[in-house]
Amino acid sequence: MTRHPANAALNTVDGLIRLGVRNQWYALCPSERVPAGDLIRLDRAGEELMLWRDAAGTVHVQEDRCPHRGARLTQGVHMGDRVACNYHGVQVDGEGLVVSVPGVPGCALEGRRALRTFPAREHGGAVFAWFGDPDDAEPLPFEVPEQLSSDGWDHFLAYVEWDAPWIYSLDNLMDPMHGTFLHRKSHTMGSGRREALFQIRDTDTGFVFEKTDQAGVNFDWSEWIAGGTPWVRLAIPYPDTAGPGGPFTIVCTATPINETQHAAFFWRCRQVTGWQRDTWRFLYKARLEARHWAVLEQDRVMEEAMPLDAWSRETLYQHDLALVRLRRAIRGEAQRQLAAREERTAAEVRT
Ligand code: FES
Ligand SMILES: [Fe+2]
Repeated sequence: MTRHPANAALNTVDGLIRLGVRNQWYALCPSERVPAGDLIRLDRAGEELMLWRDAAGTVHVQEDRCPHRGARLTQGVHMGDRVACNYHGVQVDGEGLVVSVPGVPGCALEGRRALRTFPAREHGGAVFAWFGDPDDAEPLPFEVPEQLSSDGWDHFLAYVEWDAPWIYSLDNLMDPMHGTFLHRKSHTMGSGRREALFQIRDTDTGFVFEKTDQAGVNFDWSEWIAGGTPWVRLAIPYPDTAGPGGPFTIVCTATPINETQHAAFFWRCRQVTGWQRDTWRFLYKARLEARHWAVLEQDRVMEEAMPLDAWSRETLYQHDLALVRLRRAIRGEAQRQLAAREERTAAEVRT
């Protein structure tokens, strides 16, 4: 069935770009934001969501909107394997099935899968959900970079919510050169040349945007990993004083909250096991973490102060090639999704 999004902006190409193209897995929040027994309200990608865990601890992501008359389910009661709406007591389970209508037992609403439910996963200490178009589109396989899935790597998750469009964070991540300037006082990004020539190198899953004349010195490349989740990967060389484990790799993703705010996730990763892992975890907590937050703060201040229409009056140059490519890909996907939706609607009208 075609759904007409409650958020009208999702019906336009620009709105879809600002609120996040569909048929993606988006990271929603750190796992600890969803404690057992609670009903958590979160707005993500233009949708009003309820997150909760059932008695087994499995996380569920559903629309915060009672199928009876639209009351906020997050104001309801957590009943272990189901949620009861506080308005008239309708009970819905984690699959979106109406299990009970206490006021009218046996009514037609019972047994219907009436609550929009987003397939959900937990990985790397974060909750992810699939935003399909149509709603019941089969999710793509949930894939994560090896830094978050292999035992050989260890990571810390840094999570932020910023008052800027989500795409500003994607732009920022695909712009290695800002490290040389904005983060010039950072211990790891103050070195290397201040001029650079970049190239795009295609990979099986996306592309790498890299300096042609410098590697392993500063923030010298970013990788866009296309597919089911908007992943960006980058590496920042570490001095020997930062302990074992080679370059410091950061796996990132961003998720729109609404058109002007977003959540961003930065997994700070190192390839360490055993005692080296313990050393790194200690060092990270004791010395490195505060420095990384200081760097992120520079990004936040920059992004939040930028005009909301920054894209409308830019003068891009060679260092912005990756942004151009990424934006074109996202716009193309938004156009495809809207065209497909229109086609489905037309087919429904014909039948
Ligand atoms: S609105 Fe939820 S039970 Fe009536
Ligand atoms: Fe930055």
